[in-house]
Amino acid sequence: MSKAFGSPKAEGFQVAVSSLTLGTLYEAVLAFSGQDLETFWPSVCQNSRWLIPSRRMGILLSGEDGGFDVVGVFEQGKFQSPPESQYTPGPGMSEALATASAQWFDNPADRFKDEMNRLTEWFFRDGPDLLFVLPIRETGTNIGALVFATGSVEDADRAMLNTLGTIYALHAGMSYRLIRITEERRQMQERLAVQEKMASLGSLVAGVAHEVNTPIGSIIGAADVSVRCIRKLNDLVQDIEGHDDIKHDPRLEKASRLLFENYRVITEAGTRIAEMVRSLKNFARLDEADFQKTDIHDAIENTLRLVHHEFKNKVTVIREYGDLPKIDCYPSQLNQVFMNLFVNAAHSIDEQGTVMIRTSADNENVYVKVSDTGKGILAKNIGKVFDPGFTTKGGLDVGTGLGLSICYNIMQKHHGTISVNSEVGRGTEFTLTLPQKPPAGGGATTGTP
Ligand SMILES: Nc1ncnc2c1ncn2[C@@H]1O[C@H](COP(=O)(O)OP(=O)(O)O)[C@@H](O)[C@H]1O
Ligand SMILES: [Mg+2]
Repeated sequence: MSKAFGSPKAEGFQVAVSSLTLGTLYEAVLAFSGQDLETFWPSVCQNSRWLIPSRRMGILLSGEDGGFDVVGVFEQGKFQSPPESQYTPGPGMSEALATASAQWFDNPADRFKDEMNRLTEWFFRDGPDLLFVLPIRETGTNIGALVFATGSVEDADRAMLNTLGTIYALHAGMSYRLIRITEERRQMQERLAVQEKMASLGSLVAGVAHEVNTPIGSIIGAADVSVRCIRKLNDLVQDIEGHDDIKHDPRLEKASRLLFENYRVITEAGTRIAEMVRSLKNFARLDEADFQKTDIHDAIENTLRLVHHEFKNKVTVIREYGDLPKIDCYPSQLNQVFMNLFVNAAHSIDEQGTVMIRTSADNENVYVKVSDTGKGILAKNIGKVFDPGFTTKGGLDVGTGLGLSICYNIMQKHHGTISVNSEVGRGTEFTLTLPQKPPAGGGATTGTP
C-alpha cells in the first residue's frame, strides 16, 4: 500500500511518500552492514531519503567545543559536499541538537532567523514548512543528528515518522560505532603484526650479525697471511742469483702489484662489513634491552652508519653537537626513533639536500633536533603525522605510517616529547626532548614494549 501525505496547500513542496513502509526501514537498516567509514554517511543520506522524504537533509556529528562536523548533505536526490564542513549552532539549534528524541519545528526559517549561517541558509532557502531533527545516539549520548527540511506533514504522519526515524537513527548510531570499533581493531592487529615482525627481524639481524662476524674475521685474517706470503715470494725471487730477466720481468711486477691491490680491496671491504655488522648489533642491542646510561651521540652515529644507503649521493649530514651528559634510556628504542627520523628526512628530499642534527642540554633535559631541507608537510597533515597508519607515501617510498607513531610512543615511555615544525618547500624539523633524570621509577619500571 502506498500512502501520500502532506496538506494540499503545500503542493510542490509537500512530502509525498510512497511505499513508506516497515519494509523500507528494514532495507535501509540492512544497508548499514557491509559499509566502511568512507561509505557510511553517504549511504545514510541515500537511505534516509526513502524513509523521510525531504528537499534537503544534512548529517551533523558532534565535534569540539559544541560545534558539529557536517559529514554530508543531500539535495535533490544527490549526496553533495556540504556548503560548510563545520557548523556552530546558535542557542536554539544547540538545544534542538542536544535533545534525546525526535523533534519537529514549524516554520524553521522564522524560528531560527537570529542564528543563520551558511549551512542554515542553505537548509531554509525556500522556506520549508518543517525541520525534522533526529538525534543520532551512541551509548546514551547524542553524537550527532540527522536534520531534514520538509514540506508540511500531518500529526499522524509525524508520529509515524518519529517512530521510523528514531529506529533508523538508533541503528545508524550503533552501526557507526561498530564500524569504528572494527576499523580500530583492524589497525591494532596490523600494528601488532608489524611489532611482531620487527621483534623477530631484530633477533634475526642480531643472529645474522653474530654469524657473519666470524667468517669476516677469517677473510681479513687470510688476506693478511696472503699478503705476507707474496712479500716473502718476492723477496725469494730477488734473492736468487742471476736471472735478472725474470726479476725485472714486467709481468712479475704487474702480478705482484695486482695482488697487493687485491689485498687492500679485500681488507677495506672486510673492515667495512665488520663495522656494519657491529652497528647492526648495536642497533638491535638485543643483549641489552634494559634501561641504561647511554651516550646519545654514539647512538646517533651508529644509526647514521645504518642509513648510509638512504643518504648516500643525496643527503649531506651536518652535525652540531653540544655537550651532553649520558642519559638513562632504552638505547635500542632511541635508536629506532633516530632511524625513523633519518629515513623520513631522506624520503622528503628528492634530489640533493641536507639533514642537520643538533644536540643540546640544559639542567633538566637533553634536546635532539633533526631537520631536513625536504619538501615539508602540508598544514592540513601536520596534526596527523603521529597518528598510527597516517602516510602520504606511495610509489617508490612505500610507507606504513607507523614510524612516527612508534617514535611518539617511545618518547612517551621515556617521559620525553617529540614535536614537529614544518614549512612546505623549505623543510621539516623534529625536536626530541628527553629528561636527564626520568621521574621516580622512570622508564625503568615500564618494561620493554
Ligand atoms: N621529514 C619529513 N618531511 C616531510 N614529511 C614527513 C617527514 N616525516 C614524516 N613526514 C610525513 O609524515 C608521514 C608519516 O610518517 P611515518 O609515521 O614515518 O610513516 P611513513 O614514513 O611510513 O609514511 C609521512 O608519510 C610523511 O607524509
Ligand atoms: Mg617513516
